[in-house]
Amino acid sequence: MNPEQRAEVLFRDRMAQQYEELVGQRGAYWWYAVREFLLHRMGLHAGGWLYDAGCGVGLYALRIAERFPRVRVLAVDFSAESLRRLCEEARHRGVAERIQAVCADITQWSPPQPVRWVLCTEVLQHLPTAELRQQALQRFAESLLPEGELWLVVARHTRDDRRRGVPKEIDERAAGGYFRMRFTVAEVRQLVRRSGLQLIWIGGAPVPSARYGQRLPRQLWRLAHWIQRLPGSAHIGRVLIVRARRC
Ligand SMILES: C[S@@+](CC[C@H](N)C(=O)[O-])C[C@H]1O[C@@H](n2cnc3c(N)ncnc32)[C@H](O)[C@@H]1O
Repeated sequence: MNPEQRAEVLFRDRMAQQYEELVGQRGAYWWYAVREFLLHRMGLHAGGWLYDAGCGVGLYALRIAERFPRVRVLAVDFSAESLRRLCEEARHRGVAERIQAVCADITQWSPPQPVRWVLCTEVLQHLPTAELRQQALQRFAESLLPEGELWLVVARHTRDDRRRGVPKEIDERAAGGYFRMRFTVAEVRQLVRRSGLQLIWIGGAPVPSARYGQRLPRQLWRLAHWIQRLPGSAHIGRVLIVRARRC
């Protein structure tokens, strides 16, 4: 595994138990605006292999395995404890045979066979160097079937962040934490282009910070999905959603 993220592995292992509860604090609206949007748009009914890169405790992998029985998920993360929880939950939900868990570093690992989809949600923002981020994207590009697609979810550095002086990068590795950053739209475009992928679409999910987001009724998801389809939506909200394919 890459030496830059050793502290993060320990952190993720320690936090695996609480991860779902922690992100649950964003509220149901967040999950409808982001996860449901992806599950609606990715065309998963077709079936095939999906590589969930940095799957964590399986908040996407498990939902996909339950909803789309023709999809086989390669769930990859470098936190063994997160994967242990994912597998336990997969058995509990009766979808264990549809998920293959692999403990590996996504900047170094490639699937044994090309896949129809690579899904990478809220992971790239934790890779602490530009080189590692590019390396991961390069691997994703090489992992795809000719008609395959990459779907990315990353945190956006907003105008409001700049106004409030929120740093683009926060590095807490020396204190037993992890690195995190927020991307501009231009940075994401460049990253995708340099990995030899063709950007099909980049949009923004209109999700506010967790503090306000958890108060929004989940029924607003229809409005969120509508906004996300508008040109220029990438400049709204705190989350960027990216769709790319092999050139
Ligand atoms: C914020 S969590 C997101 C988890 C999941 N994708 C989701 O959206 O719920 C980031 C995950 O990426 C994993 N991760 C970060 N860098 C990684 C790397 N280089 N290789 C494998 N996993 C990585 C972490 O262990 C963690 O589980």
